[in-house]
Amino acid sequence: METVNMAGYNRTSELKAFDDTKAGVKGLVDGGITKVPQIFHQPPGKLKKIPVSNDSQFSIPVIALEGVKGDPTTRKEIVDKVGDAACADWGFFQVINHGIPASVLDEMIDGIRKFHEQDTEIKKGFYTRDPSRKVLYLSNYDLFKSKAANWRDSLGCVMVCDNPLQPADLPQVCRDIVMDYTKQVMTLSFTLLELLSEALGVNPGCLKDMGCADLMFLMGHYYPPCPQPELTMATTNHKDSNIITVLLQDQMGGLQVLHQNQWVDVPCRPGALVVNVGDLLQLISNDKFKSVNHRVLAKRTGPRISVACFLRMSENGSRLYGPIKDLLSENNPPIYRDILIKDYLSEYYSKGLDGTGGLPNFKL
Ligand code: OGA
Ligand code: NI
Repeated sequence: METVNMAGYNRTSELKAFDDTKAGVKGLVDGGITKVPQIFHQPPGKLKKIPVSNDSQFSIPVIALEGVKGDPTTRKEIVDKVGDAACADWGFFQVINHGIPASVLDEMIDGIRKFHEQDTEIKKGFYTRDPSRKVLYLSNYDLFKSKAANWRDSLGCVMVCDNPLQPADLPQVCRDIVMDYTKQVMTLSFTLLELLSEALGVNPGCLKDMGCADLMFLMGHYYPPCPQPELTMATTNHKDSNIITVLLQDQMGGLQVLHQNQWVDVPCRPGALVVNVGDLLQLISNDKFKSVNHRVLAKRTGPRISVACFLRMSENGSRLYGPIKDLLSENNPPIYRDILIKDYLSEYYSKGLDGTGGLPNFKL
C-alpha cells in the first residue's frame, strides 16, 4: 500500500528509488550526502528507550578454546563455561584461541571491504533480492518490510546447503578468502556444536546429527560512516533466526547486546570471534540457551565491517523440530511445539527486524 504523508513523503517510492540505485548506502555516502534520508529514520523515541550500561561489571564472557580436544578436565571446564555463563545467561560470548589464524580473519575483513569498495558497476551485477540466488549483494534484506532502513549494505553467500554455491559464483575480489574462511568457520562450528551438546547433557554429536550445521549463510556487512548517527541504526535491535552465529568484527565497535535490560558493548578483541545463540537453538534447547537481542549503532566514523556466519538446519524437507526429547521431563515440559523450519522462517521473515524474533507464535 502506498503511504503518502502530509509533507508529501512517499516511503514506498523512496525505498524503491533507493533500491533501484543498486549502490546501497555506500552509494549515498559516495555521492556526498550530508543528511540521513527519511527512509532511514528510526521512529521517534525508539532509540533511547533502553538505557546503555556504563557499568563495567558487565562484560561478555570470553572463552579460550585452547586444549578443547585435549584432556577431559580442560574440556569439561570449557563446556561448563559455554553452557552456564555464556548461553543461558548472556546468549553471547567471545571465543579466543579458536584455531583460525589472525591472518585469515584480517584477510576476510579485507575481502569484504574490497567487495564493497570495488567499482560500483561490477558490484551492481550482484545486486538482487531473489532468494533463490546463492550470492546476493543488497542493502537491507528487509527494506520493504521494516519501519526504518539501516545504515548498512551486505553481501550474502549461501556457502553450505544441499546445493551450495560454486567458488566461481563468488565475486572475484573475495572468492579465495571467502572459501578459506568458510572452511575454517565450519570446523570451529562443529566444535562449538559439540560443546553446546555436551553443555545440554546430550551426546556430543547430537546437534550436528540433528542437522544444525547443514546450512551456512555468510553475510559480509559494510557499515559506511553516517552523517547523523543519532537518527538511524546500523542494525536494528533483533534476535538471530538460526542455531548459532559466528561473527567476526573489525576494530570500529558499535555492536551491543541486551543484558539485564541494558545495552552492553561487545568489545573489539583482536583475534576473537563472537558467538551467539539464535532462536532455533533456544527452541530445541527448550529455553536453556537464549536468543538474545542485539543491535549495531551507527557512527560518524567508518566504514565498519563485520562478517556473520549463520548456521542452521535446512528449510527443505518434512522433519519437525521441537525441544530435544531427552531434555524434557515433568519438571521441564516442552515450551514449544514441533515445527517445520520453513514455517518458522516464514514467520521470522514476515516482518522487518523488530526485536521480537520468530518464536512467540510457536509457544505451547
Ligand atoms: C547480524 C548481526 C552484527 C554485526 O548480522 O545478525 O547481528 O556486528 N550483525 O554486524
Ligand atoms: Ni544478529
